[in-house]
Amino acid sequence: MRTCMRLIQVLLVVSIVPVARSGDPPGSLNHRVDSLMALMTLEEKAGQLVQVDFRSASPADPVTLHPDLERRIREGRIGSVMNAVGADLTRRIQAFAVQGSRRKIPLVFGLDVIHGFRTVFPIPLGEASTWDPELIMKASRVAALEAAAAGIHWTFAPMVDIARDPRWGRIAEGAGEDPYLGSLMAAARVRGFQGDTLASPNSLMACAKHFAAYGGAEGGRDYNTVDISERTLRETYLPPFEAAVKAGVGTVMCSFNEIGGIPCAANEHLLREILRQEWGFDGFVVSDWDAIPEMQPHGFAGSPEEAAYLALRAGVDMDMEGGAYEAHLVSLVRSGRLPEETLDSAVRHVLRAKFALGLFDDPYHGASADRERRAILAPSHRALAREVAGKSLVLLKNAGGLLPLRKDLQSVAVIGPLADDGESILGPWSGAGRSADAVPVLEGIRRKVAASTKILYARGCGVADTSTSSFSGALAAAAGADAVVMVVGEESGMSGEAASRSTLGLPGVQEQLFEAVLRLHKPLVVVLMNGRPLAIPRLQEAAPAILEAWFPGVEGGDAVADVLFGDRDPSGKITATFPFSVGQVPLYYNHKNTGRPTIDTVKYTSRYLDGPTSPLYPFGYGLHYTSFAYQSLKLGATRIRKSEGLRVSVDLHNTGSRAGEETVQLYIRDLSGSVTHPVKELKAFRKVRVEPGRTENVQFQLTPESLALYDRGMRKVVEPGLFEVMVGGNSKDLLTATLEVTAE
Ligand code: BGC
Repeated sequence: MRTCMRLIQVLLVVSIVPVARSGDPPGSLNHRVDSLMALMTLEEKAGQLVQVDFRSASPADPVTLHPDLERRIREGRIGSVMNAVGADLTRRIQAFAVQGSRRKIPLVFGLDVIHGFRTVFPIPLGEASTWDPELIMKASRVAALEAAAAGIHWTFAPMVDIARDPRWGRIAEGAGEDPYLGSLMAAARVRGFQGDTLASPNSLMACAKHFAAYGGAEGGRDYNTVDISERTLRETYLPPFEAAVKAGVGTVMCSFNEIGGIPCAANEHLLREILRQEWGFDGFVVSDWDAIPEMQPHGFAGSPEEAAYLALRAGVDMDMEGGAYEAHLVSLVRSGRLPEETLDSAVRHVLRAKFALGLFDDPYHGASADRERRAILAPSHRALAREVAGKSLVLLKNAGGLLPLRKDLQSVAVIGPLADDGESILGPWSGAGRSADAVPVLEGIRRKVAASTKILYARGCGVADTSTSSFSGALAAAAGADAVVMVVGEESGMSGEAASRSTLGLPGVQEQLFEAVLRLHKPLVVVLMNGRPLAIPRLQEAAPAILEAWFPGVEGGDAVADVLFGDRDPSGKITATFPFSVGQVPLYYNHKNTGRPTIDTVKYTSRYLDGPTSPLYPFGYGLHYTSFAYQSLKLGATRIRKSEGLRVSVDLHNTGSRAGEETVQLYIRDLSGSVTHPVKELKAFRKVRVEPGRTENVQFQLTPESLALYDRGMRKVVEPGLFEVMVGGNSKDLLTATLEVTAE
């Protein structure tokens, strides 16, 4: 007992005596951090690790600061505030910290700026369908400009979770199922948010989330258990996180789920061994919302205090709205259970980020009401949103070249529950987006067609309606029109967090409305709005044309009209497989072959008795208003050494009568090795525009890195043997060449 008291005394002394820890030169970041920390009390240090939600902390009135929150900030008990939006409000809150608190340490303000702030871009699954990381970088830049002007320093984005299960609502927030494309998108978003330097008033600090394998939830049910091998973790789920770290991401958020019995909020293997030691991450880790105390219901921690101890020890630096760090860190250190050095290291990570953001020089990061007014919804931002939305649209079917429609039709019926919806079009996690800013599809079509074209609008039913009683208006409109555009799908709240579905068809009676309209035998275009791949075999069978619009954002209606009426050619490609039925899920292109690969007609092969094993639309699929033929796949050599690169070329012929932009995709397969490998893996792609009747030669230069795979010992190496190199316009229709890789 006496030893324990002595230890506590020593710890107390250490916590208040100003010691400069590092030998870093004066003025350097580390020196500034250490000098500051030497002056901080234990309570103040613990305070840096506490993040509170402004809405919960000031519940009565979202614009007035609750006296209790003000007091906690003045006492230095809070390091970060989330969900306080607007330059005026954040400036007022910040003033309590930098004028009213003893150490004057600025707060860092966080918000989910996922796909835009006021200028809302398509949901990330839509953005990924552009296959254009540069463009997505620009979109993230715009999001940063607007949010930073409104007082936000830190976005909880990009969400880089690989998702192979469309039942999981959060598939909408990521780039889909592929680790390579997901990595490129992750890096692009980090660069876009963070800009050249975090200290710029135009930059947001990014946060790669949710670390890790959150998308592997069993049954696609949000927050559910994940049980995957270290191999699957590294091959499938980790690459986008590593790419984000390489791109300099400032923070990482741990996920809610467990992996193999260990909740990610206490997973030292992930947070210390992989993230910090292997990848050299030097930012800070924030928990997901309440994820620390939730380790109690997980059955992992016996109490919130135990949860706080386990999380900090594992490497979670900041507690998002969990209350566990605020309540327990100080006593955990005072009691000697938690070494003060563990706490210090977390505080150091947080303070370094605040210095990097320049908050000690300008705690307001340049935010002002005037800047905010000028930044939000600037015409150039809206123009970019329209371009991104246009490029994210995927043409799934176009029988007989029904699309594009003529602008001078005598009449068009625009029907369906989402046709005039300015709310859902923004999608889940729509930042500071407002439905009043959005252009619904009906409005986009109105603006597009000739003045003489009559538009007949009727909703027909609601998204989730179970009654067909309002069909008659929509049927009457369709019956009297030259062409019908039917906008159906999901409400935005049907995807995103806590929005898993156990079915994947159109909700409610929408498919019945489709059948009824179909019976009118009109030129019918189905526009889909949804946050996940849907199982819609009947639509594919019967609808003349289908355009996947995702939730296309604030300029969605204009972008859809651009494509429907031919001002823009569709060029998007899906980045998550569409199944025929929910029973096939999880269904993804980079699966293993098994010992008995599918032959649909042969019993003892890997297949279903009552339906196909193949997808409705494969990964990488999307049509154009023209058509392409792939010819003459050539390898620079058919045999290479494992340390050598490889040139691959293919001819892309535009066989149609319009120009078009194709996304040429290159996949490889390692045919045998010390472990099994997927039947194909995306390794490169290029977007190429080809004029009608012309042929473009498309070249790729593969590096040894492209052929490297995790071997039995989990080393990333090229294993000598036979490979296939495949090139085409989607993951199914491919030209194939064989390559032999030899040892040195
Ligand atoms: C989500 C995170 C989000 C956080 C803050 C959580 O419920 O899982 O993705 O960043 O809330 O809003």
